Amino acid sequence: MPLVNMRDMLNHAYQHGYAVGGFDLVSLDFLEAIMAAAEAVQSPVILSLAESHFEYYDFELAMAASEAAAKRSTVPVAIHLDHGASFASAVRAINLGCNAVMVDASHEPFEGNVAATKKVVDMAHACGVPVEGELGYVAGVEGEDAEKHPGEVVYTSVEEAKAYVEQTNVDFLAVSVGTVHGRMRGEPQLDFERLKQINQSLKIPLVIHGGTGLSDEQFSKLIANGVTKINYYTALADAAGNRMRNNVDADARCGYTGIVKGIQDEIHNEVKRCMRNWGSAGKADEVMKHCEHWQPVHHVIIYNVKDTTEEQVKNIMARGEEILSQIPGVRRVITATAIRDDAKYKFSWLIEFVHAKVIDSYREHPDHVAFANDLFRPIAGDRISIDFAQSL
Ligand code: 13P
Repeated sequence: MPLVNMRDMLNHAYQHGYAVGGFDLVSLDFLEAIMAAAEAVQSPVILSLAESHFEYYDFELAMAASEAAAKRSTVPVAIHLDHGASFASAVRAINLGCNAVMVDASHEPFEGNVAATKKVVDMAHACGVPVEGELGYVAGVEGEDAEKHPGEVVYTSVEEAKAYVEQTNVDFLAVSVGTVHGRMRGEPQLDFERLKQINQSLKIPLVIHGGTGLSDEQFSKLIANGVTKINYYTALADAAGNRMRNNVDADARCGYTGIVKGIQDEIHNEVKRCMRNWGSAGKADEVMKHCEHWQPVHHVIIYNVKDTTEEQVKNIMARGEEILSQIPGVRRVITATAIRDDAKYKFSWLIEFVHAKVIDSYREHPDHVAFANDLFRPIAGDRISIDFAQSL
């Protein structure tokens, strides 16, 4: 199951001087093309789902597809929430299967950004999930993604970056050194000296947003100065858009499948080009060996009840499903009743955690403590509880 810990993936890139693409997907065509490109050049890959794009697709369905794609791939994959707008967004993304999240409070003043980021980091780390923060501001200029990032570019300050990382404990930092979201207007002027100083001062993987439109030489210099994740979207959307316009020009009466025909090839080629340029092509095996494999834990409880009707048990199970599934790091809660009368235990819970770290954070979570002490334990003295992980 080649879903891997993105912290390990990017640390490998940082140590070995290359960058992994964080490619934003907005449809199955994007997902399939990005994965096929990664397989073709044997590159690690980050499937990126941007909250600002959720108006184009159903996040929950896209997560199910992304996870299925990751599970059947032969290259290491991380699934990342891009530009998460709130604490609630980060919890939702983790519970739906993202194994890395970005918290974007970069529009806030420094203290507000630190406070919002730290809250997400504390929660995510308790789930084993690494976090990307952003300091400075990467604005949008032109292209379909640009209006999602209004305002002016604010460059990242070296001193603030140091304080931000110390105070928030983020795993990766997105920096603003002159890139923009969407298409560039004119020749982009990047502040490599600033980037170099940030890298020397932080020594953690750095992230560049707004990858579209940079030259190969600019990418090389970014990577030489600590950039290990490059977010890339507009060029893929434009390649698909151009193909669709050509399809319509060739046959003005074509329907949906005629219009989108061939867009996977365009996206695939551009993703492969990036992977080769950024040095991640051919690194899949090495990265796979270096990374923790992302694995859920099944928290299983089997139990009998005393002095309680089946109706009461049913109500408690329903309350439990509702309350416990909201706790960070809980993927799903399934309650069940034995199907044979002679079963030694009559009821069960299956609670799936995203990562082994959740065993502790779940146990201590106030909603779990209240539910267990007030509703569950008083009726279920006779119980066995075991945490299982799939053998690798
Ligand atoms: P581009 O659309 O400029 O490639 O940027 C993508 C991005 O930074 C997503 O977070």
